[in-house]
Amino acid sequence: MSRASENLAVLGLQWGDEGKGKLVDLLAPRYRHVVRFQGGNNAGHTVVVDGQSLALHQVPSGALHPGCFLVVGSGVVLNLDVFEQELSRLRDRGIDVTSRLLLSDKAHLILPHHIALDVWREERAHKVGAKIGTTGRGIGPAYEMKAARMGLRVGDLKHPDVLAERIRPGYDEVRLRLGSGAELPTIEAIVENLLKAIEPLLGCIGNAQAHLQDAWAKGEQILFEGAQAALLDLDHGTYPFVTSSNCSLGGLFTGTGLPPKALHRILGVAKAYTTRVGAGPMVSELTNATGDHLREAGREYGTTTGRPRRCGWFDAPITAHACRTNGVDGLAIMKLDVLDGMAEVGIVVGYLDAHGHPVGQLPSCAAEWADLQPDVRMYKGWQTPTRGVTDHQQLPAEAQAYLDALAEAVEMPIVYVSTGPDRAEGCVYPGTFLEPLLA
Ligand code: IMP
Repeated sequence: MSRASENLAVLGLQWGDEGKGKLVDLLAPRYRHVVRFQGGNNAGHTVVVDGQSLALHQVPSGALHPGCFLVVGSGVVLNLDVFEQELSRLRDRGIDVTSRLLLSDKAHLILPHHIALDVWREERAHKVGAKIGTTGRGIGPAYEMKAARMGLRVGDLKHPDVLAERIRPGYDEVRLRLGSGAELPTIEAIVENLLKAIEPLLGCIGNAQAHLQDAWAKGEQILFEGAQAALLDLDHGTYPFVTSSNCSLGGLFTGTGLPPKALHRILGVAKAYTTRVGAGPMVSELTNATGDHLREAGREYGTTTGRPRRCGWFDAPITAHACRTNGVDGLAIMKLDVLDGMAEVGIVVGYLDAHGHPVGQLPSCAAEWADLQPDVRMYKGWQTPTRGVTDHQQLPAEAQAYLDALAEAVEMPIVYVSTGPDRAEGCVYPGTFLEPLLA
């Protein structure tokens, strides 16, 4: 078996929305396969080409490159209606990916009662102040049904006769919880809709694990596209304010069926500041005019739900935790240009407890986050715009000093800095593993 391939994972190091889509889109021409391995249409990956932006939720971000084979792995939960809408938006731009698309027959489907349960639960939680702030897309319930052995897999759609009986146990449980007044489509209607939606994609269903094993054996290059990020990871994030999949490294292996040996490099992606959508701890949050400035300058509104994102200074403790969890080889720092023109920029270099003592590890329990205070170090801002700069040595001296401080606080080298949304706007650091991949 050949092991000549140099496979790369692109993983988020904060609470999502770091700009992974831009990097995957940039890197994709070097890779034969681009793989999504977890998450669903809670993700929103924006790629900008020639000033036009395209939001992808479930289709891998390699879609714009005709040479890329797109794989949706078994760890993904798929909403077929949304998937079809995305394919149709791509078709409107003259891109038809169905001849280079593989949907894992083991991936799970998001069904209408999963969405209803997600929304119902969040509404109830809201009343007692325990809302997670989910995207309301049914992601959590779809993964719950998978773990409860009541999920429906994409491969099941090849057997229409058994669909109703596969759906019924989960459906009945949701009905029990929501009560008879809940407005749910009938099981027959759900089956009918699924069969209609899958019809044009029947030829795309297959064994994604075998496909990727085979690609790896042949030395074909594979790019793994993470969705969400380490701090939203079900196990290693800010539980319970997390998503329901493992969006850090472990999820890549369970979500594809490839062994760790099949992965060679891990690119960690973080914004030059911090954002978070939904509830939960965020020590770096700025609930003042500076936070508002970051939101407006960075257009920090959710790709999936349009919700305003909470904003704050770059948070080194969470990013370092994410680097350790993911075994990151280098940092891509995105949206540096958003900080242009600020008098000062800050980095949260550590956390302090209620007594002002430094805290070494991130807390594991939600209650333990409450007392933490950020230890912020301020740096001089820069007035010369970084927008569009392509050589990091041409960045203003203050921006370079800021990036050096950031890398030191995280104890991780920077390999790429993004200076604008477009493909061309960014600096690849020479001599790093990324340089030959983006040359
Ligand atoms: P869920 O994934 O819809 O269950 O939402 C759980 C939490 O993850 C909420 O705080 C969401 O806002 C957050 N979340 C899920 N997907 C994303 C994403 O792609 N970017 C940022 N936050 C996300």
